[in-house]
Formats: sequence, structure tokens, C-alpha cells
Amino acid sequence: MIASYDIAFARSSDAVGIAQLSRDAIEQGLPWSWTPPRVLRSMRDADTNAIVARERDALVGFAIMKYRDDEAHLFLMAVQFSRRRRGIGRALLDWLELTARNAGLASIRAEVRETNGPARSFYARHGYTEAQLLRGYYERHDDAVLLKKTLRGL
Ligand SMILES: CC(C)(COP(=O)(O)OP(=O)(O)OC[C@H]1O[C@@H](n2cnc3c(N)ncnc32)[C@H](O)[C@@H]1OP(=O)(O)O)[C@@H](O)C(=O)NCCC(=O)NCCS
Repeated sequence: MIASYDIAFARSSDAVGIAQLSRDAIEQGLPWSWTPPRVLRSMRDADTNAIVARERDALVGFAIMKYRDDEAHLFLMAVQFSRRRRGIGRALLDWLELTARNAGLASIRAEVRETNGPARSFYARHGYTEAQLLRGYYERHDDAVLLKKTLRGL
């Protein structure tokens, strides 16, 4: 049976779980930069939304988006490995895209590792275009692909 999940704002008690999922699913091979204190700071930033997907009480995914003057920046997003391909990533992204649209922002940007084929497919499926290769973006070692999605014309 597939359990249903809810999307909600992250609570401070989620900071450790979010940081661990970031370390394990996103930051592998890099120094752990999204530590619990950094996640907490992000949650407390008025221009940032941190959201989680929960199945019953278990955190199964999260995403963090920063809203700038005209552009939203999707900092991080991950779903627990055992819960992937069930639409949770899509639900997190839809939630954040709606807030960016409602705020009147023109576009969303995100970066993914050049080697991260699954995430590149995921974002392509959701209308993100690959705008630029960012050489050495991660610790001056790993390259990133800059992704953009236009929400409205300027
Ligand atoms: C990227 C990620 C968040 C997607 O989450 P998810 O819950 O598995 O995604 P969804 O189930 O909503 O997938 C929606 C669509 O995206 C595409 N997609 C998702 N994962 C894919 C994969 N591994 N390979 C190819 N396409 C994929 C598919 O089109 C999928 O639709 P389908 O399942 O009907 O074919 C998840 O793979 C993840 O946590 N990866 C590790 C962390 C990461 O790379 N984060 C992004 C950079 S910060």
C-alpha cells in the first residue's frame, strides 16, 4: 500500500532530518554545508520557504526556496530514496512554484550537478531549461547545470 503524504511548512524540529537528507541525497562527496544550524537559519529567513513532505509523522522529502526581487531560487530539494517516483518531488515543486507565481516573480532558478541525470530529467519534465554550465560550481570541483523556468514575461 502506498501511504499518502502531506506538504507543510517545516518545523524547527525538522532541521536535523532535512540536513541529514541534504547530506545523504544531495551533498554526497562534498563537505556538508546544509547543516542543522544553516537549515534553521533558512527557516527563520522571512524571504525563504522550507517545506516538508510527511507520511504519517515521517519526513520523506523537503525543499527550500528563496524569494528574491524578481526571481525565486530553489536551493535544495530531496525525497527519501525509498519514496521516489511517487510524485512527492512534483508535489513539493508545485507548492513552491505556486508561491513564486503568487508573489509575481518572473522566474525560478536552480542548480544541479552536471552528473545528476535523474534530477535533470525531473526538472526537464517540469519545464526547466538548461541555461548554462557552471564550471567548478561545487567546491571548485564539480560542475553544475543552471536551470531556469519562466513564470511570466517581463
Ligand atoms: C529529483 C527528486 C527530488 C525527484 O523526486 P521524486 O519524488 O522521485 O519525483 P517524482 O516522483 O515527482 O517524479 C516526477 C517526474 O520526474 C521525472 N523523474 C523523476 N525521477 C526520475 C529519474 N530517476 N529518472 C528519470 N526521470 C525522473 C519523471 O518524469 C517523473 O515522472 P514519472 O515517475 O511519471 O515518470 C529525487 O530524485 C531526489 O531526491 N533526488 C536526489 C536529490 C536531488 O538530486 N535533488 C535535486 C537537486 S537539489
